Amino acid sequence: MALLEARAELDVIVWPEDRACERSWLMENVVGATGVIVMFPEKVNTELLDKAGPSLKVVSTVSVGYEHIDLKAAAQHNLKVGYTPDVLTDAVADLSVMLALMAGRNGGIGVDLVQKGQWPNFSWSPFALCGPQLSTTAASQTRKIGFLGFGRIAQATLARLVPFGITHCLYSSNPSSPPNYARDAALAKQHNLRAVSKVDIDELARESDVLFVLAPGGSGTYHVVNEAVLKKMKRTSILVNASRGTLVDSDALAKALREGWIWGAGLDVVEGEPNVTIDHPLVKEPRCVILPHIGSATLETRGEMTTRAAQNVIAAILGEEMPSQVDL
Ligand code: DGY
Repeated sequence: MALLEARAELDVIVWPEDRACERSWLMENVVGATGVIVMFPEKVNTELLDKAGPSLKVVSTVSVGYEHIDLKAAAQHNLKVGYTPDVLTDAVADLSVMLALMAGRNGGIGVDLVQKGQWPNFSWSPFALCGPQLSTTAASQTRKIGFLGFGRIAQATLARLVPFGITHCLYSSNPSSPPNYARDAALAKQHNLRAVSKVDIDELARESDVLFVLAPGGSGTYHVVNEAVLKKMKRTSILVNASRGTLVDSDALAKALREGWIWGAGLDVVEGEPNVTIDHPLVKEPRCVILPHIGSATLETRGEMTTRAAQNVIAAILGEEMPSQVDL
């Protein structure tokens, strides 16, 4: 806000409440706007862009993902689109590790038990509430960490796992990008790993002890984690999704958890969010830890994201290079 308000030439109109903006308010207030800053649940489509009218130069989203923006329509309206990569990488990577630990170590079940006043009835026996250990131990075989999508957030997550004794990393990314052995070797060296290898999704599913889903949403990755993939995973494996809910088929995942195909899941995103209520099949699964899409929700990161979004909009209005512009 300070950045925007410092620009005397800008008339800044702000949704006045600390909750998601109502569509009707946005539709009313976007008329004649030069720039618009949105959060990621806001659909930026032809309806909104037409309503804004020909004065609109830029749409700036406070998110790294931009599948809520119709890029084709933005291009047709001659707009620039800004987003906020990099600044949230660490926050999402931190949370991804947290989800892996929570899901593997029965964090959800444990918290629930204490909050329901059940601790006195919890019988402390040798294997009570035990789960697979994330770090490598003398007793465990080599732990393999898999990544579906191997961009900035996945690599930052990998870096956090190196001190856990992880030595092997598998990843599967955009099929059109060929394996890059030189990069893999360099990455392995950088992280002191024994191996970083690009594999197909079947091998990724079969081999990963923890499989992190950290790829962009959209039609190209819709339900890429489906029943067939889940069936190939190890019974002791953990699935973490901190990208977009649409990558994982929720019904298939609920079945996988119910029938013990995998050990547990840690999700920051679920298809159809925020309409995920207590009767959702995944919410009913005790070994599924679900958070309400808070991967980037740290005070520091949200400060940087909103700053970047303001810088993007100002730069576009002034005709200057935007710090983070989406290629249309
Ligand atoms: C993003 O930035 O895309 C997050 O998922 C929403 O904050």
